[in-house]
Order: sequence, then structure tokens, then C-alpha cells
Amino acid sequence: MQLRRVRTPHGVVAVAELEGAALDAALADLADAERAHAAGLAEVRRRDFVRGRVALHGLLEELPLLAGPPPPILSNDRGAPALPEGWVGSISHKGAFAAAIVAPADVGFVGVDLELAAPPRADIARRILTPREQAALPDRGRAVTLRFAIKEAIYKAIDPVLRRYVGFTEVELDVHAGGACTVTSALPLAIDAAWCEYEGHWIATAQASRRSTSPSGR
Ligand SMILES: CC(C)(COP(=O)(O)OP(=O)(O)OC[C@H]1O[C@@H](n2cnc3c(N)ncnc32)[C@H](O)[C@@H]1OP(=O)(O)O)[C@@H](O)C(=O)NCCC(=O)NCCS
Repeated sequence: MQLRRVRTPHGVVAVAELEGAALDAALADLADAERAHAAGLAEVRRRDFVRGRVALHGLLEELPLLAGPPPPILSNDRGAPALPEGWVGSISHKGAFAAAIVAPADVGFVGVDLELAAPPRADIARRILTPREQAALPDRGRAVTLRFAIKEAIYKAIDPVLRRYVGFTEVELDVHAGGACTVTSALPLAIDAAWCEYEGHWIATAQASRRSTSPSGR
């Protein structure tokens, strides 16, 4: 089993790659409540769940304030991982890989998304990009997948606050070289996002917190 760490502006992202016997062993090592949850999932979903928990626990084990046996991380009523009090976190899976991020709750909420750094398999550009984003992307291809990843990371960071479905075109991105991204939306949140390419994947991260001033880009 490989667990690697990727530094991002929103914290360290742990990336787990697990297959076969290592995956079975990881399932056996989960906390009782996590194993019980996994037992109720269909095969593919169970594998994803185990990979995601392995990545998340890899980070939790390093937190100084969480001494003792690893706490089971189940999901909240919206599907997000429910971290121990004082912490926030997020998970994503893609194939044999899963990524997780954990941060102190006082930074706001965080989100992570992992996608293949390849053109999308279906033409999703019109569904996920605003007209301005489409106009700025004449070549599409894997740049669309990157924007998809960033928006999903944002969704995971904002859903714990908004607790509603947020459409892909409610947020507009200006993606810059080197991993930066300007996020513009009318949502009552300060949203920050970043991205990097890691072993054939896009890793997107986001952080969101409430804001009281009028909406603007950053
Ligand atoms: C929830 C969603 C983001 C998950 O993305 P996905 O590509 O299907 O799957 P991923 O593997 O990347 O992520 C799955 C993980 O997301 C997390 N998740 C699920 N629902 C969540 C929610 N409401 N809020 C935060 N995280 C959530 C879970 O940790 C889940 O893994 P787990 O069940 O093993 O713990 C996606 O299905 C979705 O509904 N998107 C809504 C639309 C959107 O993204 N809009 C963009 C607006 S900016």
C-alpha cells in the first residue's frame, strides 16, 4: 500500500493507492463502525470507501490532538466525512486512488477532488462551465476536467455551510498557471481554490468560510 503526501495551499493531501490483498487488509483494519458501514456497500463503492478512509486516517494519525485509537469516520447526513470535533476534512476517489485532506475547523471547511488529468469521457463542458468559462477555453480537453475537479472540491467545501445542491455554473473559475485559481460567485462565502497535477491526476483543493460582505471574486 502506498500513502503519499502532496502539499497544497489548503493543507497536506494524502493519496492512497490500494488494490487486491492490500485493500482487503485495509478493510480489516478499519474501526468496527467503519467496517460495518463498508459491509453494507456495493463492491465498487466499498473499495472506494476503504481507500478514502485509509487516506483520511493516514492524516488523522499525525494530528497531535487525537491521541488514542483512531476514531471511526462515518458520514454526516449530507454524505461528507464527519471528522472529530475541531477538525474538518474531505475525501475523493478515482480508480485505485483516493485522496483526503484534513484541516483545523477554524480555517473554515475544506474540499478535495481527484480526477484523471485527461479529457473528460463525455462532453460535459456545457454542463459544468459558464458561457464565459467556455469562451475562455477554446481547446477544452483536459482543461475541462481540471475545472470539473476544482468545482467538485469547492462543492465539498461549501456544502457543509450551504447544505444545498450548488450547480456547476453558480461558481466561475479563472484558472491560472502554477496552481492558482480565482473563484467568483454570488454565494455568501469566501472561497479559495487551488490545483496541481500529480501522477496523471488533477488534485484540486478548496477552502470556504462564511463572509458577511457583498459577493466578489478573489
Ligand atoms: C458530492 C460530489 C461532489 C461527490 O463527488 P464524486 O466525484 O461523485 O465523488 P468523489 O469520489 O470525488 O467524492 C466522494 C466523497 O465525497 C464526499 N461527499 C459526499 N457528499 C458530500 C457532501 N454533500 N459534502 C461534502 N463531501 C461530500 C464523501 O466523503 C465521499 O466519499 P465517501 O462516501 O467515501 O466518504 C458529487 O457527487 C456531487 O454531488 N456534486 C454536486 C455538484 C457540484 O459538484 N457542483 C459544483 C458547484 S461549485
